Amino acid sequence: MIDTRISRRAALMGAGAVAAWLASPARALLQVAGRVAVPPFVDPLMGRMTLEEKAGQLSLMASAWGGGVATALNPPSNGPDFQQQVEEARLGQLTGVFNGNGARMARIMQTAVMNGSRLKIPLIFAADIIHGHRTVFPVPLAEVSSFEPELARRTAAAAAFEASGAGIDWTFSPMVDVARDQRWGRGVEGGGEDVLLGELFAAARVRGFQGENVASNEHLMACVKHFAAYGAGESGLDYNVVDMSDRRLREVYLPTYKAAFDAGALSGMASFNEINGVPSTGNRWLQTELLRGEWGFQGFMVSDYTGDEEMIAAGYARDGRDAARLAFLAGVDMSMQSGLYRKYLPDLVRSGAVPVGMLDQSVRRVLAVKAMLGLFEDPFRRIDEKREQSRSLLPATRALARESGRKSIVLLKNDGDLLPLPKSGKTIALIGPFASGKHDLIGPWCVYGDDAKAVDLETGVRNAIGGKGKVVVAEGSGVEEPIKGGIAKAVAAARAADIIVLAIGESQGMSGEAQSRTEIVVPEPQQKLAEAVAATGKPVVVVLKHGRALALHGAVANAQAILATWFLGTETGNAIADVLFGDYGPSGRLPASFPRESGQEPYYYAHKSTGRPNPDGPLEPYKAHFRGVPNSALYPFGHGLTYGKIEYGGLMLGAPAMGMNGSLTVAARVTNRGRRAAEEVAQFYIHDRTASITQPVRKLIAFRKVALGPGQSEVVQFTLRAADLAFLGVNDRPTVEPGTFDVWIAPSAESDGVHGSFELTA
Ligand code: NOJ
Repeated sequence: MIDTRISRRAALMGAGAVAAWLASPARALLQVAGRVAVPPFVDPLMGRMTLEEKAGQLSLMASAWGGGVATALNPPSNGPDFQQQVEEARLGQLTGVFNGNGARMARIMQTAVMNGSRLKIPLIFAADIIHGHRTVFPVPLAEVSSFEPELARRTAAAAAFEASGAGIDWTFSPMVDVARDQRWGRGVEGGGEDVLLGELFAAARVRGFQGENVASNEHLMACVKHFAAYGAGESGLDYNVVDMSDRRLREVYLPTYKAAFDAGALSGMASFNEINGVPSTGNRWLQTELLRGEWGFQGFMVSDYTGDEEMIAAGYARDGRDAARLAFLAGVDMSMQSGLYRKYLPDLVRSGAVPVGMLDQSVRRVLAVKAMLGLFEDPFRRIDEKREQSRSLLPATRALARESGRKSIVLLKNDGDLLPLPKSGKTIALIGPFASGKHDLIGPWCVYGDDAKAVDLETGVRNAIGGKGKVVVAEGSGVEEPIKGGIAKAVAAARAADIIVLAIGESQGMSGEAQSRTEIVVPEPQQKLAEAVAATGKPVVVVLKHGRALALHGAVANAQAILATWFLGTETGNAIADVLFGDYGPSGRLPASFPRESGQEPYYYAHKSTGRPNPDGPLEPYKAHFRGVPNSALYPFGHGLTYGKIEYGGLMLGAPAMGMNGSLTVAARVTNRGRRAAEEVAQFYIHDRTASITQPVRKLIAFRKVALGPGQSEVVQFTLRAADLAFLGVNDRPTVEPGTFDVWIAPSAESDGVHGSFELTA
């Protein structure tokens, strides 16, 4: 009842034009192209707004609705109580709230605004929907292991479907920060170390969240974060400073944001870090000249949580007023959580420190985006308590979580084909803190997920084997603390078993925001557990839980089989069991290199050679390596085994040379000599041997996933063009130089696969 009345009233604001405009195909096209159309009612509406109401439209606050994980992430103590917040909304002091708790809360707030506020501008409800809403998908880094961007589009779309049913209009996702230092805890939210893979997943996630029509009540707005280079903080320390060349910034760190904006994202979030002495939140070059000027972004930018205020501690802003001025003039349209915009912007405008035209421009962007989301047409379009329930944890969404889960698993090692395990006739000892129990399943940065609704490893294994095999479980150790007598019990269980499945690694609190680590290893008590159970001589399968690439040592590294399983969400146990028992052949590939030692970080495959590279083989003195450690990965980017036996052969180069305007085909035969079907990810890398700017030892240019039955082989072909060989030259412009190039089609960034070279002629 209320809905219809209010919608009609809202539609009246645009005299029906809003609805017609919303329905027009042109609007959807604009959205997909990242363009924002300003509906005709916006400027007249702005003409009626006070400066305070305008600043209110640029002020986003954490929800004060109590209870649940959501408020634990955003302690209500930071803000007013809920009734007070509703009143602020009614008075036009808020554009919306984030990380609140569901449709009921949204309905109360939206009703107060639509019934009681002066201008009836709908609120926007935001949330961190990073890897699922109630159905939790694998953490984003895990899902990149699938090398299947389309999968990420589908899971983002499914997350949007659930979340938009629960009153959420806007997700603070995707996080697209390239992360090359595994000490940083937030790499778990992103796309890994590679630029191309990062771009593809960034774009896919935006498309999944926003769909073809972001105004539909099955989609929500994406927010590209954290702009920019948040993943490059010195020493992997969260929030730390970034100091880097423009060339590296543009070649490595900026492309993923650009890909996400180009895919049509209508909002972005400024990052906490500074770049070359200027905090991103106060960086006019970044937020305006580059983003809007060069890239043509038309949506709005929001600060990160108190990011504007933090410029005071960073030593860039004198006080709150100065911080609001600097952030706003830089181009950050909306302030999250500090309240500085609503406190200072009206007076900054009155005093002439901020031009009123700029204020209007930001308000116009926000209102236009709210209109693109369909909120003026129907402020309640995503608020429906029944839909919130009926869309939650549907079997089809859980099935997608299982599919995504198993595609995210990477088989690092499988000596003697220990995997897949037989389902019957054996006793399996499930050992370790993650063997059993509903904890650490949903993974970090998950506001609305619930471990209690997720499948743990023990349950997944029992589901898979039914009554056929025997399972014994021993915790053995806590995650970071030993358990008294735990190792003795685990060893006894191991002795009585045929196979040990050792589920160890990081808890979900060990990665994510503010969770940088100095040693990226399996915590000591678990390492001791691994040594003890391995000493029984029984075959060991290590099932790793982790939010980053790890440095593996001792019995963990020496186990016969190792599965990298990250945090897989709601269907964790089933997905792992699918791979353990061969109902699904592992197809994941590492999106981040596993170094040999923590001290190698930042380690990434696309590094430069230096003048003293150590050739493969024994370490040589005065060469670029650490004492006693080869400068290579234990498991490099792109690595991942299958249950088949994959061979690469017969490199075919279309010609020995290619001209600047030509193209070159590069192909190889990939064969499965094994007895089981396999999915192989054939990766195409190049290296520019000599250039006016030194180039990385390898760079991923393309990849293809091929399904190969036993004995089957396929020719995988790539086409190379000069543009694929471009780099930013001495003048910072894309440059292609003639010369010799190496090419590989290979199963990882550090394996040979097949290798050849060609000349690029002038
Ligand atoms: C801070 C985080 O950096 C950001 O990623 C997140 O979206 C906001 N908090 C809101 O929760």
